[in-house]
Amino acid sequence: MNIRALAAQVVFQVLENGASLSTVLPQHQAQLSNGKDRALLAELSYGVMRVLPQLDNSVSQRLQKPFKNKQRLLHHLLLIGCYQLYFTRIPAHAAISETVEACRQLGFENLVKVINGVLRNIQRAEEPLETSNETLKYCFPGWMVKKLQAAYPDSWQQIIEQSQQRPPMWLRNNQRQQSRDSYLAQLNALEISATAGLTADAILLAQPTDVAVLPGFAGGSVSVQDQAAQWAATLLEPKNGDLILDACAAPGGKSCHILESADVRLVALDNDAKRLERVTENCQRLGLDATILCADAANIDASWQGEKFDRILLDAPCSATGVIRRHPDIKWLRKANDIDALQSIQAQILDHCWQWLKPGGTLLYATCSILPQENSQQIDAFVARTPDASLVAITASQQNSTTGWQILPGQDNMDGFYYAKLVKAIA
Ligand SMILES: C[S@@+](CC[C@H](N)C(=O)[O-])C[C@H]1O[C@@H](n2cnc3c(N)ncnc32)[C@H](O)[C@@H]1O
Repeated sequence: MNIRALAAQVVFQVLENGASLSTVLPQHQAQLSNGKDRALLAELSYGVMRVLPQLDNSVSQRLQKPFKNKQRLLHHLLLIGCYQLYFTRIPAHAAISETVEACRQLGFENLVKVINGVLRNIQRAEEPLETSNETLKYCFPGWMVKKLQAAYPDSWQQIIEQSQQRPPMWLRNNQRQQSRDSYLAQLNALEISATAGLTADAILLAQPTDVAVLPGFAGGSVSVQDQAAQWAATLLEPKNGDLILDACAAPGGKSCHILESADVRLVALDNDAKRLERVTENCQRLGLDATILCADAANIDASWQGEKFDRILLDAPCSATGVIRRHPDIKWLRKANDIDALQSIQAQILDHCWQWLKPGGTLLYATCSILPQENSQQIDAFVARTPDASLVAITASQQNSTTGWQILPGQDNMDGFYYAKLVKAIA
């Protein structure tokens, strides 16, 4: 099937059915044998998610009446067409003829003229209209803009701008296989430009690269992981012999990093059995061993009767507002009232996991959110209701005014992330 037709189906499934782009896109890419075609399908699908309101506005203005029911797919095809005309270097004649051909392939021969007419009209306009409407201007949902304005009165525009960028590619060197310097030398020999990051294992690639060209990737020499996520293992400070719980572990990026860092016994727990399969796969590729447990982190007692833990990583389910540059579909999938529900789940998991921490133990709370409600406010409330919990300052952070460490998107090339380190009183 034509790439534009596949892209329309991907966008349709995300925007109309609420599926996540990272699930749907690979399923459609699997239908293409050529790497360049797969890359174009990704570019079109991700691109539409980044600038959706501007495309929607251009398309809707030019349709005499909106597409309904089965024909709705054509609205998404027009978004793909419009994205090519405004935001790519694909020549207009190719963009239009391929998109019109997609309309035929999708079984709407009778509407080819409408698609062609709308796209020619957009082509003449050359670029989206200037606007003062916030959603259109920033390509962010209004409710998110308001929350960011309230939390970051001086930097919300910069946060949005960074969230609209294409993310860099970070690697995590597997210190069990080679030193970071030695891996950097291997990359250098292949003329893959890269630099060391701030954490011990992080490597920043100058250009995103297919993992197939990375030396030793299949054998576990490196993994793909943003530096912000790599801070988890550094801040948790695993020691040889520790029993560690990764309470929301799937797909296992942070579990594997902890296992690479020290000889620990690690329980990788998650309530999603399908996602836990990825933890097993990642451990296998990296030659690591974890106890995999499918359970509710707010009710561990039901499935874990072992000893309490020396350290717990709680990488909580969250709004993912810090990683919009990697997952732009989050802007349209997440709804304003999700945040209260997430805050409540996070609090339940925190309270329960705390019971499973040994006296003197450390719990590292993490989210890939930039909303205070899920982060500093969540931890302030936890410390206030938990007499044996105290906060440890995170020295990597230069922030002193708020609880924990809020990394903002783009800061040192990282994703937006939040960390708070808590220790449990001994007596
Ligand atoms: C942010 S992701 C974890 C990412 C993972 N730590 C990593 O680095 O690869 C959050 C995870 O929490 C899991 N989750 C959500 N609610 C949960 C619950 N009540 N109990 C256990 N896991 C839960 C989700 O299935 C998801 O895999």
